[in-house]
Amino acid sequence: MARSVVFSGIQPTGAIHIGNYFGAIKQWVAGQDDAENIFCLVDMHALTVPQEPDVLRGQILETAMVLFAAGIDPAKSRLFVQSHVREHGELTWYLSCVASMGQLQRMTQFKEKSEAQRGEVRAGLFTYPVLMAADILLYRTTHVPVGEDQKQHVELTRDLAQRFNASFGDVFVIPEPAIPKAGARIMGLDDPTKKMSKSVPGSYHAIRVLDTPEQIKKTVMSAQTDSGRDVRADPARPGITNLLGIYAAATGASLEAAETHFADARGYGDVKKELVEILVETLRPLRERYAELSSDPTTVRELLQQGADAVRPIASETVDRAKHAMGVG
Ligand code: TYM
Repeated sequence: MARSVVFSGIQPTGAIHIGNYFGAIKQWVAGQDDAENIFCLVDMHALTVPQEPDVLRGQILETAMVLFAAGIDPAKSRLFVQSHVREHGELTWYLSCVASMGQLQRMTQFKEKSEAQRGEVRAGLFTYPVLMAADILLYRTTHVPVGEDQKQHVELTRDLAQRFNASFGDVFVIPEPAIPKAGARIMGLDDPTKKMSKSVPGSYHAIRVLDTPEQIKKTVMSAQTDSGRDVRADPARPGITNLLGIYAAATGASLEAAETHFADARGYGDVKKELVEILVETLRPLRERYAELSSDPTTVRELLQQGADAVRPIASETVDRAKHAMGVG
């Protein structure tokens, strides 16, 4: 049987939070022995909304350090920066000649993000899912581990690959999304009706993976809860549902097991206290490894270059095949 190829990406646009960690990164780390693994810091995606160049440059390196600290092992996985491999931009053009405007208009994330942009909406924000499809298809990816919010983009990728293959021959592998059972959609602690996001300001919105134990405690203890005391997951009570979801993601338990675990809790305070302890312990090794790595940026830069050098030939071959199939190049 052909070996699986896992590909996924993350935008280096701010501090990595537990949504990114439980929704995506934890799966990347856990699966490293089972497949070929390629992970990408998608800096070109970051440019779809305004960025400060020097800040972005720093965040690319910082995000790389967080991923290595989280357990991405350079002996098993390739980690690289999207803009270091020119083929991402190149394949995007060919795929954008296959994608339709209507398809892109249906992307819910475009609708949300374009509404959030004051002033003008960049064309790149609209074509962003085509770049994401190129990322995935360049490496003959079989599995794409992502949080729930990226599922629609992976479905679009599948659709573009199928359209392309139907018109021009069998060039692309059709990838599958891999969404975790727990932690696929962690909500903000300040407002459990909104997805936890890197771009939402305010210190009580997200728990960042590099937060100190004190910060974790403050954020969890101040988390918005619902009226009532029942510790039960219920769409009408998003606050406690989110806390139980985070507990399940951190411990590997199911949501039902999390409810059973807290059956005797005397209200939300008990749940919050235990959650603080679990999160502090879960994130402690990551924070410690990050402190070591951050003193050696040269090694991290080298690892990123090696990652790009290793994947470039795969990307280049795919682009050549796609161009040839379309009658150019
Ligand atoms: P990004 O940078 O927004 O998020 C990185 C990963 O974290 C997941 N995630 C969450 N999971 C659970 N709860 C949350 N609140 C939460 N917030 C984010 C995301 O689903 C994602 O898996 N477009 C992508 C990056 C990308 C990509 C790709 C991913 C570009 N090319 C190719 C996979 C394959 C994005 O903006 O992710």
